[in-house]
Formats: sequence, structure tokens, C-alpha cells
Amino acid sequence: MALSRLDKLIADSGKYSRSEAKALIRAGRVCVDGVTARAPEDKCAADAPITVDGEALNTSRTRWIMLHKPEGLLSATEDRDQPTVLDLLPAELRRLGLFPVGRLDKDTTGLLLLTNEGETAHRITSPKHHVPKRYLARVDGSLDGEDVQAFAEGLTLGDGTRCLPAVLELCDRADEGRVTVYEGKYHQVKRMFAAVGKPVLRLHRERIGALALDPALAPGEFRPLTAAELAAVFAAEED
Ligand code: URA
Repeated sequence: MALSRLDKLIADSGKYSRSEAKALIRAGRVCVDGVTARAPEDKCAADAPITVDGEALNTSRTRWIMLHKPEGLLSATEDRDQPTVLDLLPAELRRLGLFPVGRLDKDTTGLLLLTNEGETAHRITSPKHHVPKRYLARVDGSLDGEDVQAFAEGLTLGDGTRCLPAVLELCDRADEGRVTVYEGKYHQVKRMFAAVGKPVLRLHRERIGALALDPALAPGEFRPLTAAELAAVFAAEED
């Protein structure tokens, strides 16, 4: 395994800047393999166990985060005028180059993943992979069996765009429906409901693949995604 400078490995955790890492090492607060390190330029393996003040440090730069997106934030990394979902994160995570995996509209709530791992993120968003995304929609109107049929056949949007077949499930409330789509066109769900004459009033993403939004997360809250949860994104949906 390639060796890297110790201060760089510590900075890769996102928890400390490079200069903070150097200061920690010089202060004798860093151990590698249980031995106190003294020099920032010391070389060590990327998988060596590193502790700071006795606490294990995650030195992998790769991060996956599950966020309950609240209303009012853009799904972007930065914007000149408006707040983005990245503003919810502490500096130590913002330093790691995280970006939202796909987009939810500013007024859409629910499950949003953030990562700095481009290849897997692309697999989730690329229409080629057909990762299902499930939304709960509140609409202006009453949904019925005809709408279920129209979604199943593949809708044609107002501008003539053809959609893949989608699954619409009716809910107890006639003005709510659960829709699962297998592609991610611009404003797709809103445009699909508009195409059947029932515009969306509220939209909330519940699932990506078989991964459901953790009900313990309030809007605006986030937590690390486990490896099993990331795998669930690519697993067939199950209820
Ligand atoms: N479809 C929409 O129309 N909006 C979203 O935010 C997500 C899917």
C-alpha cells in the first residue's frame, strides 16, 4: 500500500485542516498503531489506525450522508443568492467536497443523499440504471384508477416528452398518491401530475431503491449512511 504523509492523512478526515493536523502531531496528541507520532512528515499507510486524543479517526475521504431535506434549500453545492443543502453541514464535512446525489426541487422535502464519490453517485442518478425513486405527492384534485393506468402506460408530458411507465399507488386521502419513477427528468413528478390535470401541491421523497428515509431524522437533520444502506439503494424495492 502506498504511504502518505501523516498530516495529509489526518486532513483527509475532513475533521482538521492541514495546519491543525501538524499542530496536533507536534503536540503529541496523535498516535499511529498505538505509538505517539512526532513529525507531520512521517509516512504511514492509508489504513493505519490513527487516533487523536485517543479517539479513532476516519481517514477515508469518501463519505455518504443521508439527509432529510427541508423545504427552502437548493440541491446544489453553492449558490450566489440562496441557501443550499450544503449549508446544513458543519465545516469539517463541507471541506470534503460533498455534493447532492441528484436534485430535489427547492420546495420538495425528503430523502437526499450527499457524497463525494462520483462514480456511485452517477449510478444512482443515471437513467441507464433505472434506480427507482419513490415520492409521496399531495395534489390539487382527486386521484383515481384512471391516473394509475395513465402512469403505468407511460405519460406524455405537456411539451411532448415521453415518460417511462411509473407506478402510482392511491392513498387513503384521495388527494395523495405514492409514485415510483425509474428516471429523473427535470421536474418529472410535478410535470407527470400536471399532465393528468392534478398539479402537485407538496412533494416528499420517501425512498431511493430499497433505501427509506430514516424516520428518526427531522427535516434538516442528517447522519452517515451505512454500507448496508448504500447497498439497499441498488436492491430491488421491497415494502
Ligand atoms: N420530481 C419533481 O418534480 N421534483 C422533485 O423535486 C423531484 C422529482
